[in-house]
Amino acid sequence: MFLLKFNAINYIKGDEELKTRMKTNNCGELNLADLGKEVTLSGWVSTVRDLGGILFIELRDRSGFFQLVANPQINPDVHKTFANVRSEYVITVKGQVSKRPEETYNEKYPTGQVEMYPTSVTILSESKVLPFVLGDDNVSEDIRLKYRYLDIRNEKMLNNLRTRHNIVQAVRDYFNRNEFLEVETPILNKTTPEGARDYLVPSRVQPGKFFALPQSPQIFKQLLMVGGIERYYQIARCFRDEDLRADRQPEFTQIDIEMSFVEQQDVIDMVEGLLVNAFKAAGVEIKPPFIQMPWQEAMDRYGSDKPDTRFSLELFDIGDIILQSEFEIVKKTLQNGGIVRGIRIPGGAKYSRKDIDDITKLAISFGAKALANIIYNEDGTAKSPVLKFVTDEQAKQIQERAKAEAGDIIFFVADKPKAVYDIMGRLRLHFGKSLNLIDESKHNLLWVVDFPMFEWSDEEGRYLAMHHPFTSPCINDLDKLENGDLGNVKSIAYDIVYNGTELGGGSVRIHSSEVQKKIFKALQITDEVAQEKFGFMINALQYGTPPHAGLAIGLDRLVALLCRTDSIRDVIAFPKNASAKCLMSDAPGVASLQQMRELHIKNTVKQD
Ligand code: AMO
Ligand code: AMP
Repeated sequence: MFLLKFNAINYIKGDEELKTRMKTNNCGELNLADLGKEVTLSGWVSTVRDLGGILFIELRDRSGFFQLVANPQINPDVHKTFANVRSEYVITVKGQVSKRPEETYNEKYPTGQVEMYPTSVTILSESKVLPFVLGDDNVSEDIRLKYRYLDIRNEKMLNNLRTRHNIVQAVRDYFNRNEFLEVETPILNKTTPEGARDYLVPSRVQPGKFFALPQSPQIFKQLLMVGGIERYYQIARCFRDEDLRADRQPEFTQIDIEMSFVEQQDVIDMVEGLLVNAFKAAGVEIKPPFIQMPWQEAMDRYGSDKPDTRFSLELFDIGDIILQSEFEIVKKTLQNGGIVRGIRIPGGAKYSRKDIDDITKLAISFGAKALANIIYNEDGTAKSPVLKFVTDEQAKQIQERAKAEAGDIIFFVADKPKAVYDIMGRLRLHFGKSLNLIDESKHNLLWVVDFPMFEWSDEEGRYLAMHHPFTSPCINDLDKLENGDLGNVKSIAYDIVYNGTELGGGSVRIHSSEVQKKIFKALQITDEVAQEKFGFMINALQYGTPPHAGLAIGLDRLVALLCRTDSIRDVIAFPKNASAKCLMSDAPGVASLQQMRELHIKNTVKQD
């Protein structure tokens, strides 16, 4: 019968939407306005219930639920078939939309006032019993990922994917309105400069050579600017072989942008407009312009370059007071280029010794060598192991600096700046969460600007680019670049931060091959290595490169935050687990000896 010709191109164009012979309407859209309408519905059997010989089926498709009824007196043939139907069978039914008796209205569903006594039913597909109950919160994520195709049937996943789709459509609309061209860039590449490990693909036709999958389209989008594209965007897949966390995947998607003839503020304006539209697609209203906070200020106030400004608990500096004291161990740290930062916990004077020990242990797990504290008692006295090093007057000055009141406790750490910011930033987040200070209804967006150009790496014994080596240094800092004062060179880079998560980052790029050479030199990348790795890029800069700048937003992170889920895996149809493995397909898999031979590679790992 024609109903089963699913593969045929047999769409009937309706007034507003495409209808098929197997499906004239969606389950979730019918209501009292459709009474008497002849419809064909197809979907999955969510539940079958037998109430006194009458069979009720809850039919589900991606739009929602619709109730089907089979009564041996009214539609006996359908009743016979329904008796053989189990959960998750796929069926198609025909019939008239009818009104439910009012006492059986179900307010939970938009279709709760209507139902159908089908006149015909066809079982399109049977189903084994599912390995887990759809939507059961107690099911382990591993099982959900192994049977992801079933997990997607669940309303939550479906809604997440729908929100993702809506956001991407809003993004495309916005770019199209603003005259951006969507251009695809290659997946088989040479290495890109984002600083993570590359995924490599061996070349069969070039023995011993490897492609690298793109960590981002960075170089290509800049070359598109040299090519005169002027405004580029791409919903770009990126690959990074790095340690995974809840907000990182080995393959992920960026909303990638590059623009010519722009300054930092132009990109910021464009991205703010983009975010307004993307957030709107998820039902959230935000109002630019967003705060622009210099990197140094973010570190000093929040100990983080992605500050969560939904709560205060700002850090404070007591270095000058300590320097006047006899707190020798900390003074020494300060004299050797260290800093000291503190945090005030309102009401913390009541912490027990164990509470303080636990907080200290936490700070140590964040890398602290020690965590000092001062309790400011209700009676005006102070209590602290460090009072033997600071005078009463200095303890008072510290209290004033901390804006601490009687009943509060302060904690502080002295160390190298990077360590202090990291420890105190994490401690601040810990208190924000554990003291329930975070206002979850807030949508705080802010720009972090004026990043340092370089970051010292103890591991490598040299400076590394904080963003990437194509980021433009601040014009005023070019002499510092010449003088080797690299720690103080700022870059024209900016990050967009949402509720304490880095959503995206970008920069004004270097458009002069001379400046580019200087940056490579500062990074101790030799001419030969630069030529070998990025020669085509350096050459291109010599042929009339417009000033250009851009940014990339992590789409998965954006969608996850807007879907209010902690894990980006929840907004990716088929994600990898924390071991960078696909639990459904078991990828990565073993290659056959034949394939390996063709690729000129040898496996040194013994396979079971
Ligand atoms: P960056 O490396 O900062 O910049 O990446 C931009 C954004 O991409 C997201 N992101 C990730 N999301 C999920 N999993 C990952 N492993 C992952 N890594 C990064 C983050 C991040 O903010 N080419 C530059 C952009 C530019 O300068 O235009 C770049 O890739 O949300
Ligand atoms: P003690 O070891 O008893 O002489 O006291 C040292 C005090 O200084 C302890 O309270 C430590 O917590 C504190 N202290 C030592 N080093 C640091 C540091 N780097 N940052 C903060 N406090 C410190």
